[in-house]
Amino acid sequence: METWDAIRARRNVRAYEDRPIARTDLERILEAGRRSPSAANRQPWDFVVVTDRGQLQELSKVWQHGRHVASSAATVGLVAPIPAEGRDRDGTQYDLGQATMSMMLAAADLGIGSGHSAVADQELARKVLGFPDDRFCAYLVAFGYPADRPLAPITRPNRRPFDDVVHWDNW
Ligand SMILES: Cc1cc2nc3c(=O)[nH]c(=O)nc-3n(C[C@H](O)[C@H](O)[C@H](O)COP(=O)(O)O)c2cc1C
Repeated sequence: METWDAIRARRNVRAYEDRPIARTDLERILEAGRRSPSAANRQPWDFVVVTDRGQLQELSKVWQHGRHVASSAATVGLVAPIPAEGRDRDGTQYDLGQATMSMMLAAADLGIGSGHSAVADQELARKVLGFPDDRFCAYLVAFGYPADRPLAPITRPNRRPFDDVVHWDNW
């Protein structure tokens, strides 16, 4: 897919075909995350990749709006050091957001859908993913082939109007 098509085709996909993602495709998605920019190149992330169905089902319970994780082909836990308050915390969240979007666009390029899930139950996430005590799981990103319809550029996205969002030169 062209980059511009991938940007327009990405959408949150929460229902997936029962079809695995090839290891090389999964590695490309993760590589996109690894290459993401971060403040001072700190790269505060670790990616814990889950493909086992039983683990995915357990992981889907960490947040009430994360049920789609259970039927994903693979879900990536974005794990980061527990940050101090303020700037440090905000920077980590920004970095993780960039890594998330890179992975989602790399997936869209391959026709693979993706969907975020927040993480409320850190203890359950820690139990399933096995990350150390000084880390937390900021988000989950589920991946899988869309069960509803293939990814294709969205002509009229559900977004605020361009002229409402964009301010040229001055607000
Ligand atoms: C930081 C963040 C957290 C999100 N958490 C969830 C979530 O827990 N569960 C979920 O179903 N969707 C979640 N979403 C997806 C958003 O609801 C979705 O991106 C938004 O409605 C726009 O839709 P689109 O991604 O299809 O363009 C999250 C998105 C972001 C950016």
